[in-house]
Amino acid sequence: MMQADPKPTQPPQTPYRYDGVLKVTGKAKYAAEFSEPFPKGDLLYAYMLQATVPAGTIAAMDTKAATRASGVVAVLTPFNAPKLPVGKPQPPGKRSLTVLQDNNVSYNGQPIGVVIAKSLPEAIHAARMIKVTYNETPAKLDFMGRLGEGHAPKNPGKDPASQSRADADAAFASAAVTVDNTYVTPIQNHNPMEPHGTIAWWNGEKLNVYDATQYITGDKMTLARILNVALDNVHVQDPYVGGGFGSKGSTWSHVILAAMAAKIVQKPVKLVLEREQMFGPVGYRPTTVNHIKLAAGSDGKLTLVQQDVTMSASVLEEFVEHSELPARKLYASKQIITTTKLVDCNYGVATFMRAPGEAPGTAVFEIAMDELAERLKMDPVQLRLLNYAERDPSEDKPWTSKHLRECYAQAAGRFGWSKRNATPGQMVEGNKLIGYGFGTATYPANRSAAMAKVSYLPSGRVFVGSGTQDLGTGMYTVMAQTAAANLGLDPMQMDVKLGDSTLPKAPVSGGSQSTASVGPAVDTACIQLRLKVAGVALSDKQSPVYGAKDTDVDVMHGRVFLKSNQTKGESVTSLIARNGNVPIEAEGSAEPGEDKSSMTSQSFGAVFAEVAVDKDTHMVEVRRVVATYDIGTLVNDKTGINQLEGGITWGVSFALHEEAHIDLRYGRTVNESLAEYHVPVNADIGTIDVTVLNIPDTKFNPLGARGIGEIGITGAAAAVANAIYNATGKRVRHYPITPDKIMMA
Ligand code: MOS
Repeated sequence: MMQADPKPTQPPQTPYRYDGVLKVTGKAKYAAEFSEPFPKGDLLYAYMLQATVPAGTIAAMDTKAATRASGVVAVLTPFNAPKLPVGKPQPPGKRSLTVLQDNNVSYNGQPIGVVIAKSLPEAIHAARMIKVTYNETPAKLDFMGRLGEGHAPKNPGKDPASQSRADADAAFASAAVTVDNTYVTPIQNHNPMEPHGTIAWWNGEKLNVYDATQYITGDKMTLARILNVALDNVHVQDPYVGGGFGSKGSTWSHVILAAMAAKIVQKPVKLVLEREQMFGPVGYRPTTVNHIKLAAGSDGKLTLVQQDVTMSASVLEEFVEHSELPARKLYASKQIITTTKLVDCNYGVATFMRAPGEAPGTAVFEIAMDELAERLKMDPVQLRLLNYAERDPSEDKPWTSKHLRECYAQAAGRFGWSKRNATPGQMVEGNKLIGYGFGTATYPANRSAAMAKVSYLPSGRVFVGSGTQDLGTGMYTVMAQTAAANLGLDPMQMDVKLGDSTLPKAPVSGGSQSTASVGPAVDTACIQLRLKVAGVALSDKQSPVYGAKDTDVDVMHGRVFLKSNQTKGESVTSLIARNGNVPIEAEGSAEPGEDKSSMTSQSFGAVFAEVAVDKDTHMVEVRRVVATYDIGTLVNDKTGINQLEGGITWGVSFALHEEAHIDLRYGRTVNESLAEYHVPVNADIGTIDVTVLNIPDTKFNPLGARGIGEIGITGAAAAVANAIYNATGKRVRHYPITPDKIMMA
């Protein structure tokens, strides 16, 4: 079990969410809910018009009736929209935008116009009156029928495919045990509770937006470049985000359209996407077809791991879903060979979606490993231990910290894995077949440069600010807790501000990096603040510590005092009161260490699932999931465990429910609503038991925290899939595993 690891040092736990009361009382405002600072009654409503064909050009748009309709202020089309200077958007906000600059149509649902009216019903009503005629061209819609047309990505990324195919074939041919199957993951759409939405208004040359975004700085850069506005003249705010999952990591067309519209009508304009409008214009996870070949000796040692991936891509832009990554990183093998290919389709542009790469990658690869274990007549966990990667096999580097063995042991123990019967169909309860399944979870640890600002206020409260975002994940709480721990104060004495582009810069809230990036910046800022406060006291003749050496004083618990005699000192508030009653401010920044390239920082976990499958209907109930993760330091038990539970819930959803169906004739997503795009509700989720090892990875960052937002979804889908096999003996290799597929398998 657990090795003698150093006891983690960590900030005190907060028993609450900093923003909890604001959330449950409806006072936390989302981007589209603001009605100020512009004059009441000035706000106009925009409705986005979408193409109804998948490919071709727009021949004409008859907007006469719409323009004359009640309440309509303006109608924007490719024929009258202002021409924009061509600007290259900045990554990771880089996504091809369709902002009325030409009359091309690349997918069904593409934005082709905006109606601006005094009310939303009037805007929608007028939009329905617009007659669009198209010159249609043949559309590429049948991804599955065109797999042979796959081409290598222009930027293959982390996929050098350096090993020889001939050697791989030889290893496969001579192996004692092999697996050779194809596994499919579908298109999945982000469905945050808060839809995408933007309010834009101009003060002369200055553009202001409230936007539902995971990256206020990215929004700012993209808006500035595309609209040719000076960077300092763009102000982006988004204090609360109702979920993003990657879709709000990029700036999409509607954001630009809202800003464009506001400029034309010289009024604030609100553009909120309807749920249906989020199936296409704001990204999705592409579908992947994964041909996996595994070869092992009779001892279970892997001699070949091969994964060839073909995925759907948009004709507009390349986006690679790196579902081959788990094959490259999870297990040691003599040979590892992977490739990725794209099939261009008349679909919207794909993007990051919670654990891009690792979510579908573990979903497919961990079924293949289960199949290999079965052929070897070996316990699936034992097979993983036998091929444990002591170093990162993809780059032959050491890990900064890896404790996956302990995850396997801890989760297996809590789950009762030893009670599993390896032969399918043996555990029966009345009309239900019971199955146990397992999968490994993994996600890289990311970190970027970030800045923060802290100030001691005359009231004794402390302002903590950073231009980061809180997607509902807990950034407010983590910033409050981190600053409070540094200053010896209560987290609720912090006035936290984020989601405002005038604050010091922080990275995109993506890649599970916010705590690991912003936390250390807040630490640095607080250290600077204590020095600043001490400095003011040391030069203030009326201060009890006046004249002491700077190394002899400290600032904690709202006081500045002598380290040698803590009663000799004063409150920070009285110090500030005597010194002009102005806040004492400090800034701090932090960035990744230098050995980022010589070592790999990666999180791991073990996920076990129990399912009950109805013998007649083949309906699957996930009764419980037990998971243990090695994510470094757990910074906040409430928000951290919450995110892992949310990730697991999505993993169950990946296994059983989620799939966007594209109509092969017209290219529109057929199930573009929450009624028909299935996600789990409470009744679909059984018990979830999450534990973390809480072993700091201090080689990764001083906090030892590797990030927690995405790993929960990984491994979980395969655990469910493998449990279904253990229950039924039916191996379904095409997600989601719906009752019809189990029946037909
Ligand atoms: Mo996440 S897909 O990195 O927002």
